[in-house]
Amino acid sequence: MITPVILAGGSGTRLWPVSRKSFPKQFANLLDGPSLFQRTVDRVIAPEFTEPTVITGEDYRFIAQKQMAEMQVACGVLIVEPEGRNTGPAVLTAALVHKDDPEKVLLVLPSDHQITDDPTFREVISKAARVAQKGMIVTLGIKPDHAATGYGYLRVEGGNDDALMISQFAEKPDAETAATMLQDGNWLWNSGMFLFRVDTVLKAFETHAPELIGPAEAAMALGEEDLGFTRLNAEAYKRCANISFDHAIMENLQECAALPLACGWSDLGSWQALKDIGDADAKGTVSVGNALAIDCEGSLLKSENPDVKLVGLGLKDVVAVATDDGILIADRSQSAQVGHVVETLRAEG
Ligand code: GDD
Ligand code: MG
Repeated sequence: MITPVILAGGSGTRLWPVSRKSFPKQFANLLDGPSLFQRTVDRVIAPEFTEPTVITGEDYRFIAQKQMAEMQVACGVLIVEPEGRNTGPAVLTAALVHKDDPEKVLLVLPSDHQITDDPTFREVISKAARVAQKGMIVTLGIKPDHAATGYGYLRVEGGNDDALMISQFAEKPDAETAATMLQDGNWLWNSGMFLFRVDTVLKAFETHAPELIGPAEAAMALGEEDLGFTRLNAEAYKRCANISFDHAIMENLQECAALPLACGWSDLGSWQALKDIGDADAKGTVSVGNALAIDCEGSLLKSENPDVKLVGLGLKDVVAVATDDGILIADRSQSAQVGHVVETLRAEG
């Protein structure tokens, strides 16, 4: 059995005004229907998986609990971080929770992705779990179709029928480097999904990030069980360095395996990405929620407010998104810059 560890503590801002610190992307209603977090949970409801371990921030604990209840899913453990310290400490803490079962295979899953082919996803996970069972850290790689700068890249070289071997990691390259990697053909996108045995990953932390272990152990030991949450001790957890699992561990491994995954994966990191996967009309415009497009081309229109109809007339390559308290109108080519809007708004108070 594989135990999913769902990371749900990030606060994506590139999808403002829908995703924001108080209600981030993974919990938001981006596409019609369940949230990305709920889709992630749903994807691992299958006989080969145990109940998931979810790790999220203090501000999101009731959202996570409510969204799981809506799906009638029991959570094995719901860990609450008093303050996000990035994915390194989050993965370590989840592994420590399962420390008494050292051979258990954990599957780390970001909760902010879209995957369209769940059966293929589960098939590849089962294969990857067999490699992880042998004591290897395994990651799932996506074949790139453009020179994205928002992802980490894995260089694969050699391997066998079970898995490819990773020779290099490169986190979020600049546009020029990404273009060279695409041309090179031996690079995959890092999906941010990892599999390993509990003892394998704890040993990797001991070797590559030993300074995280004391504070994370103390945060657990001094933490408390509270209303169904495992709440980490704030003073101790704050002493964990703010570092991603990729930087703390993956980039330092001597040996790491990758399995290619072709399952309709998208990070949905920008409004452009959301438009790309939405149901487009004949002129390539996607309308979501209470929105109507008339003679629009290549645009995305989305209104979350049932009382506010968003109508686009004659627009070309525009993103227009309305919620109860914010409206974004942007040139589609500026999609990647939306995170800066949030910085500007914060600076203005
Ligand atoms: N519990 C917890 N605590 N979860 C967190 C925290 C934290 O402090 N920070 C981030 N997460 C969660 C996010 O909610 C998301 O589900 C996942 O961890 C990944 O974090 P992101 O902040 O979204 O990372 P990224 O998108 O910039 O980069 C990562 O994912 C890319 C693929 O989407 C990296 O692994 C890249 O290499 C990778 O290509
Ligand atoms: Mg992300």
